[in-house]
Amino acid sequence: MIEDYMRWEQYILRRAPDFELKYDVGGRRYEIGPDDRVYVAGMGGSGVVGDLLRDLSALYDWPFDVVVVKDYFFRGRRGLMIAVSYSGNTVETITAAQEALRRGIPVVAITTGGRLAELGIPTIRVPKASAPRAALPQMFTAALWVLRRIYGIEFALPDSLPYDSALEERLKSVISRRPTIVAPASMQGVAYRVKNEINENAKMDSPVEILPEAHHNWIEGASSPLMALTSEQIPLEHRRRVEITVDLVGGELFKVDMTIGGVLTFLKHVGLATAKLALERGIDPLKTPRIDLIKQRL
Ligand code: F6R
Repeated sequence: MIEDYMRWEQYILRRAPDFELKYDVGGRRYEIGPDDRVYVAGMGGSGVVGDLLRDLSALYDWPFDVVVVKDYFFRGRRGLMIAVSYSGNTVETITAAQEALRRGIPVVAITTGGRLAELGIPTIRVPKASAPRAALPQMFTAALWVLRRIYGIEFALPDSLPYDSALEERLKSVISRRPTIVAPASMQGVAYRVKNEINENAKMDSPVEILPEAHHNWIEGASSPLMALTSEQIPLEHRRRVEITVDLVGGELFKVDMTIGGVLTFLKHVGLATAKLALERGIDPLKTPRIDLIKQRL
């Protein structure tokens, strides 16, 4: 798993994957075109693709709203869906994709295979990794290429995701103190991914608070330690909120470059830090026995 994170830059899809814009499923015709709403369905390590796209689409004013779908149930009436499931067998994602099709909404799949790849919809197959969460670069960049093809959005892919041992050490030290993660709404996806990595790799609980809403409730009960996220690229209103929080409650501030390369570089270090924290505590970062058990029981 550690090797996977170190290899992340090799997982970035550097060329546009091909997929059909017009297709038939169950005798019905679907046409993918630019709509101002894009649903991104997916759970856990795959679902984070939608969270990150939501952050970036708002920051860079892309011409569509990203609506994240993390449930079986889907009630959209128009738009386009990108269904992301590493295994292709996650029941919530498959059910949401099928419901979108039933509602006449075209779906594009991003997966390594499984049942999602058998729905007869355009499917982008991404390379495998040690776990879904370790396959973020290929799933995330696949989704970006889909959006580029449909909307013509511009983005730059990083040549490398440089390893910084000092950042990894700082993350390890803060995360080992079991912090509450505080982030502005413009960085919600990054914050949830940090939480998920702490949960799944380090097997630790990890509360998240999102500003400005948390300034209307949580702040009264807040106690250190905090892991606060900010960025040069986010709105001034959000930056100020994060600064005030750290002034009031204390905590460690992490600046994230909210570009594709910056986000992947930061999250690579979060992956490394949480995996190494697990190993230091004698825990296997790769295994997720409770997640597996729940999937089996359903
Ligand atoms: C496990 C992991 C999980 C899965 C989630 C959904 O490594 O990251 O959060 O991503 O259970 O499964 P997939 O990604 O196969 O749809």
